[in-house]
Amino acid sequence: MQDHLNDKEIVEQILAKKKELGEKLLILTHHYQRKEIVELGHYRGDSFGLSQKAAADKAARFIVFCGVHFMAESAEILSQPHQTVQIPDLEAGCWMADMADIYIVENAWEEITSITGEDSVMPIVYMNSDAALKAFCGHRGGAVCTSSNCPTAFRWALSERDKILFFPDQHLGRNTGNQMGIPAEEMIVWDPHKPLGGNTRDDIKKAKVILWDGYCLVHTRFRVEHALKMRERFPEAKIVVHPECTQEVVALADAVGSTSFIVKYVESAPPNTTIIIGTEVNLIERVALENPDKKVLVLHHSLCPNMFKINLKNLLWALDHVGQVNVVKVPEEIKADARMALDRMLALEPKTTPAKRGDLVKERQVAGVAVS
Ligand code: 13P
Ligand code: SF4
Repeated sequence: MQDHLNDKEIVEQILAKKKELGEKLLILTHHYQRKEIVELGHYRGDSFGLSQKAAADKAARFIVFCGVHFMAESAEILSQPHQTVQIPDLEAGCWMADMADIYIVENAWEEITSITGEDSVMPIVYMNSDAALKAFCGHRGGAVCTSSNCPTAFRWALSERDKILFFPDQHLGRNTGNQMGIPAEEMIVWDPHKPLGGNTRDDIKKAKVILWDGYCLVHTRFRVEHALKMRERFPEAKIVVHPECTQEVVALADAVGSTSFIVKYVESAPPNTTIIIGTEVNLIERVALENPDKKVLVLHHSLCPNMFKINLKNLLWALDHVGQVNVVKVPEEIKADARMALDRMLALEPKTTPAKRGDLVKERQVAGVAVS
């Protein structure tokens, strides 16, 4: 690692690498990345936008993913054979993704389908999951979804089959079910440590949505008290939160959506609006700087330590050994099925023309961020 260099020198070296590699390099950055990392990327986005970008860019030879492991893995599944995907720190995982693995999901599937029959349950897996779980869904006719298209995926699933098994985030699943008007008693939670997930056979037969008992520790830190206190202090403010928050917090918000939705919500708000955001703090602090005409506040301070593992040093290290270190590789035996589940998700969305690099630069100028 480049321990002898200061941040300014590291940034200069990263910019030099970008120049040298030109179109051969694509740096993707998630909205939760540190500000200095986002500024060095070619494209920033939510996990859906980043997967679209990874699937669409054929020119790049090297994709360097500044985000967490499941995102880089999804990019690898969607990439072309001539491309390599690297992540600057292989340890950048996701606590929620770790709450479901292929063995316990297979057990749950067997228990559930022994009661309902295999053809009546559609498995839908949140992007925040291991590739083996995406493959599990792909193999059984199911799809991946993200926070930006979960309602579309649920509508599709229920048009095909009677029930959904959704994992691993119970809150995104419940918030989506609420949005679609699915009654609370038709959404049950599956606790993988209990027989029948802690339910009766009858509960399972009646359920429309079976929600895995997983959650994000960063988003479940937001509590009703935070929303009530901020409402009292800033009665004129808008509260916008991510759908990984609990339904109680979502019920007190003015808007809910993916990380890209939150960024656009702030950008399109009229000047002088006060906006209180319930999501990861790096996104909030950056959006506050990019929108000086608005007052952007945190609902509560909550940082994702996994996203924070990516830094200038390990990004430069990845670029110094481009295509060689921290390469993310999904085993061939699961790749095709996982790709099927991701492709189904991409096909559910209305086709949009992926942004060109020039457009991205324009987007960043509008946002007031230095363009490299
Ligand atoms: P988005 O898909 O909204 O970017 O969310 C990803 C995530 O990990 C939120 O915690
Ligand atoms: Fe995972 Fe939560 Fe971090 Fe998102 S914020 S990457 S869900 S731990």
